[in-house]
Amino acid sequence: MGFFIFFLFLGAIIFIFSSKTFSPIPYFPSQRADLPLIIKALNLKNNQTVTDLGAGDGLVIFKAAESAYKRSLNTQFIAVEINPVLILIMNVQKLFHPNRKNIKIVLDDIFKMDLSLPSRRKSGDIVFYLYISPWYLEKVIENCKLKIVNFRVVSYMYPVKSLKKKEGIIKGKNSIFVYNL
Ligand SMILES: C[S@@+](CC[C@H](N)C(=O)[O-])C[C@H]1O[C@@H](n2cnc3c(N)ncnc32)[C@H](O)[C@@H]1O
Repeated sequence: MGFFIFFLFLGAIIFIFSSKTFSPIPYFPSQRADLPLIIKALNLKNNQTVTDLGAGDGLVIFKAAESAYKRSLNTQFIAVEINPVLILIMNVQKLFHPNRKNIKIVLDDIFKMDLSLPSRRKSGDIVFYLYISPWYLEKVIENCKLKIVNFRVVSYMYPVKSLKKKEGIIKGKNSIFVYNL
């Protein structure tokens, strides 16, 4: 019986990670070695909201929230993820995070959701972090533009072709592309 439950559980996890619905873009974390440069690119400040769109296991958002905590910043962090297993993993990690009061974890679809809802902000100091396949980047940025004005995009590894003229590049193990819109 125990074996059966274990294999059922394993099957469910494999299904979630291979399903197009739960994982349309595969889960790959950003490179740990690049985290200091990613945090530099986010340019953390007071009264700012940083959202990781497709947050994975929360590697970037938790590290950035730790950095803000050490600097006594009130920056708000939002992790949006579609995979329920990764949402569960983030919620467990959040319980033990020193800056948990400033971290929000949201189960939603970055292509369809109203991106102004989690932060309840439509403008101001808003930063979106993205590490998703290039062909999906434009689609997500169009969704950001629907409800939000004046935001910044930090894209790991992949440039946003339509924003080439506003591009800044930080070179790490992989390049980090920064756009001020
Ligand atoms: C390449 S990983 C990046 C993880 C994390 N941002 C990082 O840099 O470590 C992309 C993540 O996007 C999530 N994802 C894919 N499609 C999504 C969607 N439509 N809505 C929300 N998250 C999505 C995947 O489940 C995966 O965890």
